[in-house]
Amino acid sequence: MDHNQQQDTAHKPAKRKEMTRRQFLSYTLGGAGAFMAAGSILPMIRFAVDPLLQPKQVGSFVKVIEESKVTNQPQQVDFKIHQVDGWYESDPKLQAWVTKGDDGVVYALSPVCKHLGCTIGQFGKEIPNRFLCPCHGAQYDKNGKNLKVAPRPLDEYQVKLNNGWVYLGPLEPNTRVK
Ligand code: FES
Repeated sequence: MDHNQQQDTAHKPAKRKEMTRRQFLSYTLGGAGAFMAAGSILPMIRFAVDPLLQPKQVGSFVKVIEESKVTNQPQQVDFKIHQVDGWYESDPKLQAWVTKGDDGVVYALSPVCKHLGCTIGQFGKEIPNRFLCPCHGAQYDKNGKNLKVAPRPLDEYQVKLNNGWVYLGPLEPNTRVK
């Protein structure tokens, strides 16, 4: 290599690898497309699995009445519970007949008739010492024992007492009727 050739090489800028317009556009549009797709797909994935990630609300108790107000005559209490079922949340209204038994234990009966699910009436209103179902005449005693028509006793709510208040939890089969 002579002296002139050496000078030419020294003054030539280093050859850079240039990006074509097509490459630039495909990188830019591809990146923007991926960003937008992630923005719309990730929330969908999160929405799909979200209920699986949430802690399940199980066995929550609701404060319904002061313990001192509970007598040996069944009293109607109305209350609401917050339910979470997958993506669906609701606050259904419930009812219970709360009584203090002869054994001093507070218990709460479901008003749902065990025949076909109608709502029983007030204790002793139509028939002394009986709950009566208006639909087909099922009768129950104060403990929820089935006396006529219905095949099983009334269900009971789980009961907790705390600081002078009665709390009701999930329903369970009647434990008072032997
Ligand atoms: S639903 Fe209560 S008696 Fe039939």
